[in-house]
Amino acid sequence: MRSTQTMPEALPERLQDGLRVAVVGTGYVGMGTAVMLAYLGHDVVGVDIDERKVEMLGRGELPIYEPGLDALLVASQPRLRWTSDYASAIPDADVIFICVGTPPLPGGQPNLRYVADAAQSVARHLNGKLQVVVNKSTVPVGTGDWVSRLLEEHAVGYHTNRYAVVSNPEFLREGTALHDSLYPDRIVLGSGHAEGIARLAQLYAPLLEQSFAPPLCAPRPAGYTRPELVTTSLSSAEMIKYAANAFLALKISFANEIAGLCEHVDADIAEVTHGIGFDRRIGHRFLAAGAGWGGSCFGKDTSALISTGSEYGYDMPILDAAVRVNRRQRHLVITKLQRHLHRLQGKRVAVLGLAFKPNTDDLRDAPAHDCIERLTALGAKVVAHDPVALPAARREWTHLQYEEADSVEAALRGADAVLVMTEWDEYRDLDWETALRGMRNRLVIDTRNVLRRWPEHSTVEQIGRRVRLAGGVPA
Ligand SMILES: NC(=O)c1ccc[n+]([C@@H]2O[C@H](COP(=O)([O-])OP(=O)(O)OC[C@H]3O[C@@H](n4cnc5c(N)ncnc54)[C@H](O)[C@@H]3O)[C@@H](O)[C@H]2O)c1
Repeated sequence: MRSTQTMPEALPERLQDGLRVAVVGTGYVGMGTAVMLAYLGHDVVGVDIDERKVEMLGRGELPIYEPGLDALLVASQPRLRWTSDYASAIPDADVIFICVGTPPLPGGQPNLRYVADAAQSVARHLNGKLQVVVNKSTVPVGTGDWVSRLLEEHAVGYHTNRYAVVSNPEFLREGTALHDSLYPDRIVLGSGHAEGIARLAQLYAPLLEQSFAPPLCAPRPAGYTRPELVTTSLSSAEMIKYAANAFLALKISFANEIAGLCEHVDADIAEVTHGIGFDRRIGHRFLAAGAGWGGSCFGKDTSALISTGSEYGYDMPILDAAVRVNRRQRHLVITKLQRHLHRLQGKRVAVLGLAFKPNTDDLRDAPAHDCIERLTALGAKVVAHDPVALPAARREWTHLQYEEADSVEAALRGADAVLVMTEWDEYRDLDWETALRGMRNRLVIDTRNVLRRWPEHSTVEQIGRRVRLAGGVPA
């Protein structure tokens, strides 16, 4: 993975009361958690069944693209170890994090198989003294209790009541993971076990007191003081994570719904959200209209919440609507294209941006995926560009048909239209006037509203704004 930082980071001293931590599952969340805790002064071992990942991490290489994390990984190596062997990681750990994936099943419920496997493997290596098992994976309410049961059932020998299960949901955003982990708004700890909570408060003390020296790659933001420590029951903590993600998804869908109406009444969504965001009860964040949310969390977590509701015969009409609006938003991209090109058969369409958002190579539930799938089904030829996600797409999107372009210029050459699907700075800062000259037809469907000026002789469709037609006639 390409490096994001040239300056080496310095590693602060080990904490005097540093803990021994095992992090099970070293994906986006586990890797970040492990690196951050080692940086803060604890001794950390990351455990993953993916040996390729373990080997890469052992060499100090980050398997994902996450700004700053690569430099901190290298700096923190003296207090970090990576393994696939539970036996070498669990018995010595004071705190064991479960950070495995919880991907959606076809019915919307999260697949808890990985959590069950991890809990059972942990159970077999518990040491009989008090160990704290922390669930950081996003899991439905009640999973913490179920994990306790699994630990009890699979522990070798008599370990009952010698472990505490705590829910500690994660709120980091990919692309700004380090910043979010070091300077969180709050740390949520849910458990009925006081000793478990106390041990985690000790683990997070450097964050709670902000007593650590900030790394170069993530300076402490001006005005930031300390995160709130929120202690709750196990089930409330599990619910907090889902409710937070569902609310953020709702905000985006709300902005998209208003954006659609703006197009009808000739208002501008950017002006509207700017105006409403100054109301402190609303705020400006998560109100960007676009091609809809994507990524590994919002789609999965809203579906999981709806499916939990249905298990209890409880409808969630607001969330249902948010999901529907999001789906409509993805179709809208193609509708906007068809409005100008009509038949797409044989047309060459450039897609700029594959990742679900900038500063990550994560492709999970990316709007670009559905868009490429639909375009090829309609007979279009797709040429795709992304500053970092092309290698990931080569591995994960083998079922899609598209040509790769190694530059924006190459993608646009001879194209009948260009779709901007991810708001990378590279696209925001592009000299669009010049870039569009290579196109056969200068049509831009800018689903992220990145174009600040309207390039000459071009037609530009954005979301929630007046269409700009070539020839100067607003539609
Ligand atoms: N990615 C995010 O932005 C984000 C943010 C907040 C919360 N979450 C939640 O955190 C959890 C993890 O998400 P992620 O994006 O890091 O997932 P991921 O798919 O990137 O990583 C999961 C890792 O777990 C490993 N794994 C699976 N089974 C294992 C086992 N039995 N033992 C050891 N390792 C095992 C996999 O090999 C993989 O490396 C999910 O529940 C997710 O909803 C994710």
